[in-house]
Amino acid sequence: MDLAQTDALVVFGITGDLAYKKIFPALYQLAKRGRLDVPVIGVARGGMGLDALRERARESVAEHVEDVDGATLDSMCARLHYVDGDYQDARTFVALKRELADAAHPLHYLAIPPSLFREVVGHLGECGAAAGARVMVEKPLGRDLDSARTINRELHRHFSEREIFRIDHYLGKEPVQNLLYFRFANAIFEPLWNRNHIDRVEITMAERFDVQGRGKLYEELGAIRDVVQNHLLQILAILAMEPPTSMDSESLRDEKVKILRSLVVRGDRSVVRGQYRGYRDEPGVAANSDVETYAAFRFGIESWRWSGVPFFIRTGKALAQTSTEVMITFSRPPQQLFDEPDGDRVNYLRFRLGPDRIAIALGALAKAAGEAMEGRSLELFVCNAETEAMSPYERLIADAMRGDQRLFARQDSVEAAWEFVDNLLARAPAVEPYDRGSWGPKSADRLVERHGGWYNPQPESDPPCT
Ligand code: BG6
Repeated sequence: MDLAQTDALVVFGITGDLAYKKIFPALYQLAKRGRLDVPVIGVARGGMGLDALRERARESVAEHVEDVDGATLDSMCARLHYVDGDYQDARTFVALKRELADAAHPLHYLAIPPSLFREVVGHLGECGAAAGARVMVEKPLGRDLDSARTINRELHRHFSEREIFRIDHYLGKEPVQNLLYFRFANAIFEPLWNRNHIDRVEITMAERFDVQGRGKLYEELGAIRDVVQNHLLQILAILAMEPPTSMDSESLRDEKVKILRSLVVRGDRSVVRGQYRGYRDEPGVAANSDVETYAAFRFGIESWRWSGVPFFIRTGKALAQTSTEVMITFSRPPQQLFDEPDGDRVNYLRFRLGPDRIAIALGALAKAAGEAMEGRSLELFVCNAETEAMSPYERLIADAMRGDQRLFARQDSVEAAWEFVDNLLARAPAVEPYDRGSWGPKSADRLVERHGGWYNPQPESDPPCT
C-alpha cells in the first residue's frame, strides 16, 4: 500500500549546518516549483525565536541560490514554524504536537546526530506524533554493522521499514540516476555487461579540497565510512546489479542488496589507506591520528555475471582533482592485427558523475590518416550541462513527502554495506602519508600494477559541454 502524501514537514536540527547548507535551499526550490504546500516545523535547542529562524532561512537561501525570487522566499518563510527545546524534554514534543495541529502524516526529518535518534523517536512515539508519520534520517548510520543495527532497532520502535527514509544524497544526484537509466533503457550494452567482455571497473571519487574544518567529525569516520559505505557502494550496486523486474522501490532495492551481499575482498594486500600530509594539524584531529583521508581497494563480486572481474574503488581528500568518475574497461581484441597506440585501454565506457555535469564517453580506436594501418584513440563524448536541474536534497525531500522510497537505502542494504566495510577495515593496513595535490600514496599503484595503472580523471581535458 502506498504511503499518503505528507501534510507537515518537521525538521529536527533546523538551526544546524545541514539545514543551512542544504535543507533551506532545497525547500526554497520546492516552493519555487509549487511543491511546498505544507507547514515546515523546525525543532532545535538553540534558544532561537521564529523571527531569527526566518532570518537564518533567508540568509541560507541568499547564500546558496542564484536569482532568488522574493515572493517565493516570503512564501517559504511564511510556512516556517519553530519549536525550541531540549530533545530530552517531553515538553518539547508536546509543543511539537500542538504545532502539528491536525496533520495526520508528518515527515520527521532527523537532521541531528544518530546518538539522539533513540530519544527523539521515543518521544515522538509517546506524544502520538509517530502514528501515521514517516521519518527521514541522515548518514552516518552507525560506524559499523553493530551500531547500524542498533540505530535501525531504535527507528523501528515506532516506524516500520516503509516509513523510514535513509538519505544517501548521491542517490538523488542526476548523474547517478542517469547510470541506472543508461543501463536499463538501452539494450546494446547489456550483452557486453559481464565477465566475458569487461576487463575491469574503476570508481574514483577524488576531492581536491581537504576536510575543511570537519576534522573532529572526520576523526570518527575516515574516508571509508564517510563515502565508501554509502555513496560509492550505492553507485557500484547500480552499475553491477541485475535488471530489476520493475522500477518499483522493492524490486530495485532487492537487486541492489544482492550485489552488496556478494562483494569479496581477498588477501591483506587489497586495501590501501592514506592520509594527506598536514591532516594531523587540522583542529580536532589527534596528533597521532590513524584515520584515513584516502582509501583504495580491489575487490570482486561473486556472481555469474562478475566472477573474476576486478573492481577498484578509490577516494580521497586533498587529491589532484575534484571529480567522480566510473571507468569500465572492456577486454582487448583477441588478436593484434594492427599497430596500436600505447596503453592497454582500447575500448571503454566512462561516466562522469560530478562535480558539475553528466558526461558519458565511449573509447575506441580508429585508423589515423595516412599510409600506415596505425591507430589512434578516439572518444565519443556526450554531456549534459544541466545536471543539477533538481538538487539531490530537493528531489529526496519531495520523494519522502510523496512516500516514494526508490532513492532511499533499505535496512538490508545498509547492513550488507557495513558488513563489507567492517571486513575491509579489518584488513586495512596503517595509513600511509601522501602529498596534497597528488593522486594518493604510492602503494595504491600496487593494486593496479597488473591492470595498466589507475585511470585518473582529468575533467578539464574533456570537450566543452553546451
Ligand atoms: C558527504 C561526505 O557525504 O559527501 C563529504 O561527508 C563529501 O566528505 C561529500 O565531501 C561529497 O558530496 P558531493 O555531493 O559534494 O560530491
